[in-house]
Amino acid sequence: MAEHVLFVDDSRVTINMIREFFSGEEIVLHSAASAEEALQLVRRHEIAVVVSDNIMPGMSGVQFLSLLKGISPDTVKILMSAFADLTSALEAINTSEVFRFVLKPLRAEEILRAVNEGLRRYRTKMAMRKEDEDVLLSLAQTIELKDPSTRGHCDRVGVYAVRLAELLELPRSVQREIKYGSWLHDCGKIGVAESILNGPGPLSDDEYSHVKQHSQWGADVAAKANLSQIVLNIVRHHHERYDGTGYPDGLKGEAIPLEARIVAVADVYDALVTDRPYRRGFTLPVACRILEDMRGAELDPQIVDLFLDGVCRRQGGGGWWPPRA
Ligand SMILES: [Fe+2]
Repeated sequence: MAEHVLFVDDSRVTINMIREFFSGEEIVLHSAASAEEALQLVRRHEIAVVVSDNIMPGMSGVQFLSLLKGISPDTVKILMSAFADLTSALEAINTSEVFRFVLKPLRAEEILRAVNEGLRRYRTKMAMRKEDEDVLLSLAQTIELKDPSTRGHCDRVGVYAVRLAELLELPRSVQREIKYGSWLHDCGKIGVAESILNGPGPLSDDEYSHVKQHSQWGADVAAKANLSQIVLNIVRHHHERYDGTGYPDGLKGEAIPLEARIVAVADVYDALVTDRPYRRGFTLPVACRILEDMRGAELDPQIVDLFLDGVCRRQGGGGWWPPRA
């Protein structure tokens, strides 16, 4: 699959020249005339390499690349600059993790080499990330083994939560952390006795108090493992309720981190539509009605609406999604 490369320059002549240089390369080439336009493209596409001019109207290339570090940390960054601007451009190398520096006027050979080296670096980063993801997913699957009725639950919650994050146009790096947080949201259940998790009947008060500890225990584990703040927030706060009566901290409304409100909707929905030891899964229309009833009480009303409209109902030309097995 061809990787996406984004060139940012306010000069149409330069962009046309770049298109000519790269006409024989197997890449998807995007161009933007300003940093602001480039940021829109970064939100829509997984950009492997970005090559940006420095002196542009509005945001400079250096400012743009610094911003990009937070939004799309895996994107490899290359800065183009004229000799007169060399000092400030060199400073940028320290502040925005610029991978290569290409001097203007551009030479085909030089920019082709820089971009191809950038693509190789991006592929290496992706291979390492895949290894990390495999470890995280196998950890989530190990946790599910404790509670066989939840098999595949974390993976499905990840799919729903990432779809919501896409609809909210959250940066791709945030979407990825939301996926990891979804996989690990119940990692604290490793500390809950199996006899309680797999018991046939409703929980006693003591047992419920014990189960409720899992979000705190999980957050402690995630913090020790140096996982991101987004993952930590999901693990700790996925049982907060929008009306403030949830746990562990009783946070209310938008005081609950957005990523935790997203995962809460995905988690509740998947629990509703799947079979549990003590009940059959609800049909999709019934599950959606229950979600509607939870708007503003357990769950963030806007995210419930987004889920019902954007994820459940309008997928596949108005059909229900995902289709029930
Ligand atoms: Fe949980």
